Amino acid sequence: MRRQIVAANWKMNGSLELVQQLVPAVRDGVAELDNGPEVVIMPPSLFLGEVKARLASSSITVGVQNVAQWQGGAYTGEIAAAMAADAGCQYVLVGHSERRELFGETDEMVAVKVSRVLESGLQAMVWVGETLEERESGDAEAVVCRQLEGALAGVSAGDAVDVVVAYEPVWAIGTGKTATAEDAQAMHQAIRQKLVELGLPGNAMPVLYGGSVKPDNAAALFAKPDIDGGLIGGASLKAEDFIAICQAVVS
Ligand code: PGA
Repeated sequence: MRRQIVAANWKMNGSLELVQQLVPAVRDGVAELDNGPEVVIMPPSLFLGEVKARLASSSITVGVQNVAQWQGGAYTGEIAAAMAADAGCQYVLVGHSERRELFGETDEMVAVKVSRVLESGLQAMVWVGETLEERESGDAEAVVCRQLEGALAGVSAGDAVDVVVAYEPVWAIGTGKTATAEDAQAMHQAIRQKLVELGLPGNAMPVLYGGSVKPDNAAALFAKPDIDGGLIGGASLKAEDFIAICQAVVS
């Protein structure tokens, strides 16, 4: 069976006060799930230590939302993958649509970042997704396949054990709109096929769905055979909602 994962992408949200309230509540809620998914929290990097300190006895792991494409040096404001590893992270989210749209990240940059992540011994959670325009013009699968090909250019079949794909339609992120479970399933199937075409073990790699996942739509999405969990933005900032979403993977 493939790994099932629910990842919290806090984005640039939160405060120390939120860390103090949210993390223990999520930790305790997740601890009560029988046979629950792997849970990852990706807070703003400055809060990593505070988050980790509250997860000491928990199976929940932590990650960062981005790393630099460089290994280190004079890159003011940047964080290297090796530093994320040093700080106790297990995951790095790479190439999120917000990074692509707002910070100009290209497939080529994403590919370099994926290599940096893997050489640091971390797992890369690689984002793919189409815009509304691309979906409406019937190009969604082609766009996502092209992103996969670009982002995973340097990934070997052996590396693939440390790669998770996160599919999020851009039009569903933070909008309250979600793909239907059927459309999401169709895309996840196409993603697996593409991974196999790229020489990767696509049937064994976790493929997560994201974009306005909430407690009321999570179960239908996660019931689909090729959806192995979720990447959760807004709802990951509310303990009750996030725990309910984790629970939906189990049930
Ligand atoms: P959302 O964000 O759940 O708020 O739509 C998901 C994401 O962008 O990772």
